[in-house]
Amino acid sequence: MVATVAMTPGADIVAESPTTHTALNEFVSQIAELTTPDRIHWVDGGEAENRRLTDELVAAGTLTRLTSPEFPNSYAAFSDPSDVARVEESTFICSEREEDAGFTNNWRDPEEMRRTLSGLFSGSMAGRTMYVIPFVMGPLDAADPKFGVEITDSAYVVASMRIMTRIGARPLARMEELDAEFVPAVHSVGAPLAPGEQDVPWPCHDDKHIVHFPETREIWSFGSGYGGNALLGKKCFALRIASVMGRDEGWLAEHMLILKLTSPQGRTHYISGAFPSACGKTNLALIDPTLEGWTAETLGDDITWIRPGDDGELRAINPETGYFGVAPGTGWSTNANAMRAIAKGNSIFTNCALTDDGGVWWEGLTEEPPAHLIDWKGEDWTPDADRPAAHPNARFCTPIEQTDMLAEEFHAPEGVTLDAILFGGRRKTTIPLVTEARDWTHGIFFGATLSSETTAAAAGEVGRVRRDPMAMLPFIGYDAGDYLKHWIEVSGAADPEKLPGIFLVNWFRRGRDGKIAWPGFAENTRVLTWIIARLEGRAEARETPIGLTPTPESLELEGLDISDEALEDSLRVDPAEWRAELDDIEVWFDRFGDSMPQPILDELQQLRERVDAA
Ligand code: GDP
Ligand code: PGA
Ligand code: MN
Ligand code: MN
Repeated sequence: MVATVAMTPGADIVAESPTTHTALNEFVSQIAELTTPDRIHWVDGGEAENRRLTDELVAAGTLTRLTSPEFPNSYAAFSDPSDVARVEESTFICSEREEDAGFTNNWRDPEEMRRTLSGLFSGSMAGRTMYVIPFVMGPLDAADPKFGVEITDSAYVVASMRIMTRIGARPLARMEELDAEFVPAVHSVGAPLAPGEQDVPWPCHDDKHIVHFPETREIWSFGSGYGGNALLGKKCFALRIASVMGRDEGWLAEHMLILKLTSPQGRTHYISGAFPSACGKTNLALIDPTLEGWTAETLGDDITWIRPGDDGELRAINPETGYFGVAPGTGWSTNANAMRAIAKGNSIFTNCALTDDGGVWWEGLTEEPPAHLIDWKGEDWTPDADRPAAHPNARFCTPIEQTDMLAEEFHAPEGVTLDAILFGGRRKTTIPLVTEARDWTHGIFFGATLSSETTAAAAGEVGRVRRDPMAMLPFIGYDAGDYLKHWIEVSGAADPEKLPGIFLVNWFRRGRDGKIAWPGFAENTRVLTWIIARLEGRAEARETPIGLTPTPESLELEGLDISDEALEDSLRVDPAEWRAELDDIEVWFDRFGDSMPQPILDELQQLRERVDAA
């Protein structure tokens, strides 16, 4: 495979290309012409290439090579302080018709946006290398592999995409063999270099644009180097564009983890869970069960594609190959499986703090912080500082194959059959620890009304309650009412007997003492085993106006450190809280206008009646 082609005047991009895929060569030529890079590099995804790129990133000051044996072959990156999270205000859906984007998205007229983008991208890669990253979301041997090609001027993006996604020569060869379609995805940090100009460690631009054209299935991202804005296979493709593909092709692209649980009797169960960013997916995906005889294995921690299988079941795959996990709060006591994967190395840490012995640290990694650190902004830090050493949205980027508890089905293109779907958020009040939906439509209602306090994963205010349907608010690539309709339709294509149970969970409810009532983390095992017992008809539940909740006796609580009061506080259904909640849900549903499906409106009506009668 050719590596790098210098863009001297008259360079023949197609002749120098490693592929005969005509549409791809046209795409690359067109973007090179627009962005005028100094060089084009076709990414092969191999070891040698990665070593060269990371060496260059170290030389440029973007990466710091970690020398501590606790973090082998790993790097720290520090972003510009303005470029630390997804930027929802600057994320756009440019469908032909505004109503197809719906009220949850920032819509822009596609024609107008194309003009804006050609201005922004014109010459934007000058002085830089343009990397071409062929990739596939999901196993390469899938019946209908979903290809993409990201063009980027950031080597940090290449190194991160290599962890998160199947990239390089193999997907390219398969794309060529199938003459397959691909999602074109263009990314520029938006910082062209004049001849001789010195680069900065983290180039970016204030005028960020994360743009999606759902009809032509294109992605254009300008101005940010941060994960969800720049690793375009992840949120942009695997959620926003894939949700549109799924709508058109009869499947679902969801913001979910996938967990396999095996009971002491050897029965296996597959559970997916949709929680908003920084609300516990990675932790639940990597749970170490606290109940004797149960084993957990993971299949994924962030994105799940679900489709009806041949026998009427719902099948799920994880299209990614890595974790882009929230670092703060991750430690040996909360998430030992993540720590074991991280300890094998080959990771990139972004906006963590540096230790004096060449490692990284973040809040919660150890109980006591080290005596001295370099914080994520490059400043000296000691434990008496009144600011965190790592950014609250600091991330580890680690290959999923380094997980000891990875389920072998992770590699299976046909995926696994879902037994249960969880919807969860971060709520101080109102939402009990776990509630079972009466039926599938009631479960979709749980998803439609899901809410959470906002987190540091997105730029903006933290801690404000917002509705986040199916934890997909920032990721639904089309009208949110049509999205709910699509959920109803997909289940219609499945066997009603085989539909997964749906459960609403909340690990974050406060007790009367103001503290989080439920111990959470590994102890969520007890919620999962209750869910499985419910599916198997073995556990009791209490009928409440909002659904079925555990009786305290039905939960396996032996060995759990929780007071009776805290348990009661976490399970309680309070009609007064629910009346306020219903008012808020009504305001929320009004925003959907006519596109809210009638069955979901009927659920609201019935809930109102049950709460009023309580
Ligand atoms: P993700 O972004 O959805 O994958 O969420 P993570 O699993 O990375 O968790 C985000 C934050 O929530 C971290 O700070 C965790 O420590 C915290 N968290 C995760 N699970 C629990 C839980 O069960 N209880 C509590 N109290 N916090 C949790
Ligand atoms: P998260 O993924 O869900 O693990 O936080 C990143 C994001 O959603 O920004
Ligand atoms: Mn996510
Ligand atoms: Mn996560």
